Formats: sequence, structure tokens, C-alpha cells
Amino acid sequence: MIRSHWLLSDFQFYITDFGAGSRFEKAEKKQLRNIVRRSCSPLPKSFFLALVARQRKAQAILELGTCVGLNAVVLGMLNPKARVITVEGDSTLHRLARRIARILNQKNITFVNALFDDVLETILDNYQPDFIFVDGNHSHDATLLYFKQICDRVNRPAMVVVDDIDWSQGMRQAWKKISCQRITKKIGFVKFGIVALK
Ligand SMILES: C[S@@+](CC[C@H](N)C(=O)[O-])C[C@H]1O[C@@H](n2cnc3c(N)ncnc32)[C@H](O)[C@@H]1O
Repeated sequence: MIRSHWLLSDFQFYITDFGAGSRFEKAEKKQLRNIVRRSCSPLPKSFFLALVARQRKAQAILELGTCVGLNAVVLGMLNPKARVITVEGDSTLHRLARRIARILNQKNITFVNALFDDVLETILDNYQPDFIFVDGNHSHDATLLYFKQICDRVNRPAMVVVDDIDWSQGMRQAWKKISCQRITKKIGFVKFGIVALK
């Protein structure tokens, strides 16, 4: 409902392009409907991720890259017993995301407005997520760094989903290079890859 409303919206605002940026739109001023269409996970994918987390009985879900929060609310709704933490660098997107969670009375989500590099280690240490969706800063180096931090710091079985593994040459290489002694499964789909850690 909110998604359909936003897909028709003319609302425009300034956002900061972090990390590897968007291949579709380089302008700083963006239309909400284009962000929803191009940067947010489509609803079936959000459901798929949320159901995988649910099937694993995830207790602590971490999303890197909130955007406007549509994926986070699906993760939260389908995993009511889990706590969801989602991190977004841009403050306007962060505020919009908090707003939809308030409208939907979604209380199990914590929205963090920060750069991944500044907070990831602390979140991993304190929160020990068992389902992690890496969906921002899609560059070779950042992807490998975040995966290493996750592997080094999460001390329990976890599933890591890396989005956009086919987005660029750098991401294709990063996906190939992702490795760690704790990996039990590594499956690449067209748009994202899933890694299980023991
Ligand atoms: C593809 S969108 C996330 C989509 C969302 N996960 C979903 O499924 O609908 C990526 C988001 O990550 C944010 N982002 C990218 N690099 C970041 C960084 N280094 N620190 C914080 N946020 C970042 C961008 O601002 C953008 O909103």
C-alpha cells in the first residue's frame, strides 16, 4: 500500500550518494518513486529474504542499507520475534524509513543513521546477528571488508546475503573471493548470493 503510493509520488528530495552509488541516477536530487523502483528490493524478494530468515528462526537480523525501509518492515513483520537493525547513511532516507515503521506500528526494528564503516564492528560485537543482508556500498573492497568483519566477529551460525553480486566487475570478483573457514554453503543467484556460516 505504502509502496504503491510512493511509486506514484512526485516527492523529490536531496540525498547523498554513498559507496558505489547508483548506476541509474547520479543526480543529488531524487524522486521518491525512482528510488523505490530502482533501489528498493521488489516485494517478492523482500518476502523471500524474510521467509528464509524466518525458516532459520533468525533472532537478530541486520540490514546494511535501509533506503526507505520497505525491506526492513517486511523482515520485521515476518519475523516478529526477531530484532531487526537496519543501517542507512542518508538522513532523509533514514527519517522516511522510521516514518513507515511508525505508520505500520512496527516495533521490532531499530533504525541507525550512520555509515557502515563507522558502526558495523560495534553492531556485530554487541548484537551478534544471525541473518545479515549486505545491500549497500557495492564495491569490491567494501564487500570483502564487511564480509571479513562479519566472519571475524559473529560467533554463531549465521546466514549472510550479499546483494548485487553481478552488478559490476568489482562485485563479481568480490563474490568469487568471499571465503572464510566457517563457510558451509555459498550459493550465487543472479542478483544476490547467500553464504551460510557455521
Ligand atoms: C540498494 S539500497 C538498500 C535497499 C534496501 N535494502 C531494500 O532492500 O529495499 C542501498 C542503501 O545503502 C545506503 N548506503 C550505501 N553505502 C552506504 C554506506 N557506506 N553507509 C551507509 N549507508 C550506505 C544508500 O544510501 C542506500 O539507501
